[in-house]
Amino acid sequence: MPDVLLDVRNLSVEYSVARGRLKAVTDVSFAIHRGEFFGLAGESGCGKSTIAFAIMRLLKGAASVSGGEINFKGGNVLAFGEERLRLFRWEKASMVLQSAMNNLNPVITVGSQLCDAIMAHQPLSPGEARNRARELLALVNIDTDRISAYPHELSGGMRQRVVIAMAMALKPDLIIFDEPTTALDVVVQYNIIRKILELKKEMGFSILFITHDLPLMLEICDRIGIMYAGRMVELSPVEEMRRGARHPYTRGLLRAFPSLLGEKVKLSGIPGSVPDLITPPDGCLFYPRCSQRQEICGRTIPGFTGPGEDHFCACFYQAAAGAGDA
Ligand SMILES: Nc1ncnc2c1ncn2[C@@H]1O[C@H](COP(=O)(O)OP(=O)(O)O)[C@@H](O)[C@H]1O
Ligand SMILES: [Mg+2]
Repeated sequence: MPDVLLDVRNLSVEYSVARGRLKAVTDVSFAIHRGEFFGLAGESGCGKSTIAFAIMRLLKGAASVSGGEINFKGGNVLAFGEERLRLFRWEKASMVLQSAMNNLNPVITVGSQLCDAIMAHQPLSPGEARNRARELLALVNIDTDRISAYPHELSGGMRQRVVIAMAMALKPDLIIFDEPTTALDVVVQYNIIRKILELKKEMGFSILFITHDLPLMLEICDRIGIMYAGRMVELSPVEEMRRGARHPYTRGLLRAFPSLLGEKVKLSGIPGSVPDLITPPDGCLFYPRCSQRQEICGRTIPGFTGPGEDHFCACFYQAAAGAGDA
């Protein structure tokens, strides 16, 4: 049995909006094992960031967890008190957001920000913390004399590497990357991904990697969960996903990208649009867009079951293994 680090079970999250309650995440379950590189993919608005924020207990205001559990090393994250939460964030789990500027304070030098994070959790002197900050910068290939630079004095790629250094500062067990390279150009993106893989190997943390870039995900992850309209529709090891995706949505997504190395295109391959999440229709949420749909699909929500021990798919008419394009 793999060593489970994070266990998200039947998680549901809603946002209160003017028209009612928007069901951003519904009944989502997945686990991340120690040392695993887990990917969460799906088009914009499908609930990926909401899951990440729920795990970090960073949901605010309009958001509420309406069901489910989040367990980390057996502790119930949703019930953590303030002190436990403080230790959990940074020391156990940390998060890197899409835009480095959302993680960094523009008026404080990167060195001071690293030191602040370190000293908030470890009993180090300012000098010791600064040495540790230098070590961390070196880990992400940033010249240590840039320790006195302000965020705007660094390139976008360097800023994102500073944020990654910060996320690693307290040696967490899990780092969540929420579209960490989406705002960067392709070459910088590639270098950052390579760095993340290298650091993971060296430090052994687990990763929850979120992106809408499925080809990238297929290259780097161990297992992948595919989200659609707030629900997880398919979950499997990456090889299985590549060769034998079962859900019509996953298959459509895979077809929407011409080739792994080809130019990326948006989800133009699947006609129609995502359902309203405030008054979602009955049955499978993909029903209106699905080429495989049958009458039952519009009435009943399919369970998240089989076809394999480690392969789950929420579809009554999931494709057979190795089936050609549906
Ligand atoms: N603060 C918020 N208030 C209201 N609705 C929100 C808020 N944040 C996200 N949503 C809605 O929740 C759904 C999921 O959003 P999100 O988790 O950001 O998706 P993703 O990260 O996959 O793009 C979307 O319909 C989005 O519009
Ligand atoms: Mg997002």
